[in-house]
Amino acid sequence: MSDERILSGMRPTGALHIGHYHGALKNWVRLQRDYRCFYFVADWHALTTHYEDPSVMAASVWDMLIDWFAAGLDPEQSTVFIQSRVPEHAELFLLLAMSAPLGWLERVPTYKDQIEKLKDKDLATYGFLGYPLMQAADILIYRARWVPVGEDQVPHVEMTREVARRFNHLFGREPGFEDKVAAALKKLGGKSARQLEDLRRQWQQAGAAAAVEHGRTLLAGASIPKDDRERLRGWLEGSSRSILLEPEARLTETPKLPGLDGAKMSKSYGNAVLMREEPRALGEKLRKMTTDPARVRRSDPGEPERCPVWQLHKVYSNADTQAWVQQGCRSAAIGCLDCKQPVIDAMLAEQAPWRERAQPFLDRPQSLREIVDAGCDRARAVADETLRDVREAMGLAYR
Ligand code: TRP
Ligand code: SF4
Repeated sequence: MSDERILSGMRPTGALHIGHYHGALKNWVRLQRDYRCFYFVADWHALTTHYEDPSVMAASVWDMLIDWFAAGLDPEQSTVFIQSRVPEHAELFLLLAMSAPLGWLERVPTYKDQIEKLKDKDLATYGFLGYPLMQAADILIYRARWVPVGEDQVPHVEMTREVARRFNHLFGREPGFEDKVAAALKKLGGKSARQLEDLRRQWQQAGAAAAVEHGRTLLAGASIPKDDRERLRGWLEGSSRSILLEPEARLTETPKLPGLDGAKMSKSYGNAVLMREEPRALGEKLRKMTTDPARVRRSDPGEPERCPVWQLHKVYSNADTQAWVQQGCRSAAIGCLDCKQPVIDAMLAEQAPWRERAQPFLDRPQSLREIVDAGCDRARAVADETLRDVREAMGLAYR
């Protein structure tokens, strides 16, 4: 178990489909054993583009959370919470906004894209421009080391790194740091001061870990004021204090699951297979799914590479079944309904435990609320720690 933190979020979209599971959730579940994971419902993010229909928010949030736990997120291992229930995110967002260059936000690739794509919505808003900075606050407030995301989100994580670096540069140093270090070195005395300078050089130029250790020991034993000791320790270890941690995107390589019509799976296209489909509906949907368009009659040979059902076999079937599909399709030895059956069976088997884990929450919605309440409390405690350092660094610790 690593001490490093992982953070990721998802906009509340209601009941999830299997594309969400294979594209993100499966990975989240895997990570929770090895890291301290924080997963949250990005409800404020949803408002940046959907501020006009607040009525669906609550149901979307709870339905999505049920699917998270159904997929295997374990509230004992992961901290699962809702963004708006940890208002500290908003305070950090505000404080970061003070020094965030406007150009960074305008240059985020999704900005102009999305405005273009969602033309029917008025996105010439302050909130929409600012949302990548809100995302930066989401990440930085937990001092997360890794952010598991898809490719489209990588520019946001990159910008988050720049925001953290800029913040540390601006606020991670006390005023007059260099002069104070010089004065502290003088107090330390000639020989020790020269030795410390030497150890610092070995550490910062050659990365000699023994040198930095030696330097710390030297400082621990020195009879100088505590402030000077702290200052010199910062100087030894790398000058400015890092208040915010620079995160890294952790790309999940994910199979692209096609929708029932062969296009990208998306709830809004109406081509999705939900994580918890009625078993009968699941079979019906799959049997109607688009296949190789060249295969009009049962006797026409087909080509799996042109068929979205084959993409599902790549995720759901073993090598034997895959070989059976390839041969049977190209020789017209099997029909498309035959071909789809193993996928239907595998999906039903995959969904059974999800359904089972979801049931207690459906029976007793209150139990879901309680688990999420506890997650929000845990998240707030961590967020509060970071925020205290940030306030202090920005000169706000007098209240
Ligand atoms: N912007 C992400 C999305 O639209 C969701 C998100 C918000 C997020 N904050 C985050 C993802 C922080 C990772 C980390 O999918
Ligand atoms: Fe697609 Fe299978 Fe039909 Fe071939 S047999 S076209 S792979 S559904």
